Amino acid sequence: MGDTDFTGQRVLVVGGSSGIGNGIAHAFKARGATVCVWGTRAAREDYAGLQGSDLSGLAYAGVDVGDPDAIDAAPAPFDGLDVLILCQGTVVYNRGEFERKGWDHVMAVNLDSLMHICRRFKPDLAASRGSVVIVSSISGLKANRGNPAYAASKAGAISLTRTLGQAWAGEGIRVNGLAPGLVDTKLTKVTTEHPKRREGALAAIPSGRLGTPADMAGAALFLASPLAAYVNGHTLVVDGGMSL
Ligand SMILES: NC(=O)c1ccc[n+]([C@@H]2O[C@H](COP(=O)([O-])OP(=O)(O)OC[C@H]3O[C@@H](n4cnc5c(N)ncnc54)[C@H](OP(=O)(O)O)[C@@H]3O)[C@@H](O)[C@H]2O)c1
Repeated sequence: MGDTDFTGQRVLVVGGSSGIGNGIAHAFKARGATVCVWGTRAAREDYAGLQGSDLSGLAYAGVDVGDPDAIDAAPAPFDGLDVLILCQGTVVYNRGEFERKGWDHVMAVNLDSLMHICRRFKPDLAASRGSVVIVSSISGLKANRGNPAYAASKAGAISLTRTLGQAWAGEGIRVNGLAPGLVDTKLTKVTTEHPKRREGALAAIPSGRLGTPADMAGAALFLASPLAAYVNGHTLVVDGGMSL
């Protein structure tokens, strides 16, 4: 596997208990890494039987990343860290993001937590000359009907990727991102399980299919690998051409 062999590396995937993050976690594990995932539920058993939540072979901790104190108090996943994947995300439908509660919650989980987790693990990443991959969205590149906080938080994530990439490069830490298009996960069931919306979305994807967690994992592996040694602060769009 050469440049994408992660044997011996310690990888934390925040939001790795489900969907895209779960696919990324297994891709690193399959390439030799030791992987810990964080999610919202108290214990790993709470994910038993859930579609898109395969925790086999992964360490797990429940950490509500919407609470900065919980991030600070979370147990260290390893002694040190080589790769930090930030794949947590949430959305509030029915115009809830136009209200204070919905706005605050989505901004806390999707944007604020990125900075708080990066701050927490920066000493470990500097020690290992490691890297960070921030999962944003093509929603951060344009308006998003009905979801102001989701779109703003994702635009913020892309901006933070640039600024941390610049700020920490001197210490050997690369910070990059990937911006998915439409991937079938529990976050997007409102679209993918609604025949008309699904059809409309598919018509807007030049590649002619929805993305998969494995598609996203390919980009994450690249960005965290030596193949991307000279890539920094960049967010790679992985959307089958949906944003073109
Ligand atoms: N699916 C898409 O089409 C799409 C497109 C663009 C961007 N994205 C982004 O991709 C990332 C992953 O989303 P997904 O589609 O894979 O959805 P998902 O299956 O719902 O996964 C979201 C992950 O974030 C975790 N999470 C949510 N709130 C949290 C909190 N307060 N504290 C800790 N963890 C929390 C979830 O934990 P639980 O498992 O416990 O719920 C889960 O692991 C998100 O950043 C999302 O915005 C997705």
